[in-house]
Amino acid sequence: MKRFLPLLTLGLVFLGGCGLEKPPAKLAEEIAKADKPKTEAAAPAPAAAPAPAAAPTDPILAAGKTVYDGGCNACHDAGMMNAPKPGDKVTWAPRIAKGEETLVKNSINGILGMPAKGGNAALTDEQITNAVKYLISISK
Ligand code: HEC
Repeated sequence: MKRFLPLLTLGLVFLGGCGLEKPPAKLAEEIAKADKPKTEAAAPAPAAAPAPAAAPTDPILAAGKTVYDGGCNACHDAGMMNAPKPGDKVTWAPRIAKGEETLVKNSINGILGMPAKGGNAALTDEQITNAVKYLISISK
């Protein structure tokens, strides 16, 4: 038995060592795992950051963007029936040249393929005006 004692001790130390080594290793793994979603969650934040940055700081333009995103985009984003796409400076230039007032009036009353208020009668003239201002601001 005495002969086995050192072996047993060694074995215990070895086991103990393993037992000690494993938890920190596992812990590190868990920390890494726990950290991952954090870094992943943090990743979209910088990615999403440009969106608020791109959002107009001017409250009128910001309100206009909300109106635009709430329905005008259905036709304009895709350029449906030649609806001028936001940001398409070439297409917008001759329209912007008509003056903001005319564009607002045409948006309220409708023009060719575009129904009055873009088909959303619930929108106020002010909301249309804001949306047009927003479109002009990003398309000139
Ligand atoms: C059903 C599709 C549709 C929707 C919805 C729509 N538009 Fe249009 N819009 C058009 C089309 C098509 C034109 C181009 C008309 C033309 O040929 O001159 C246009 C043109 C315009 C113009 C240029 C007008 C001019 O005098 O040159 C503005 C400004 C405009 N839209 C703003 C808006 C706003 C703001 C909204 C949301 C409130 C909106 N549109 C929703 C289809 C749409």
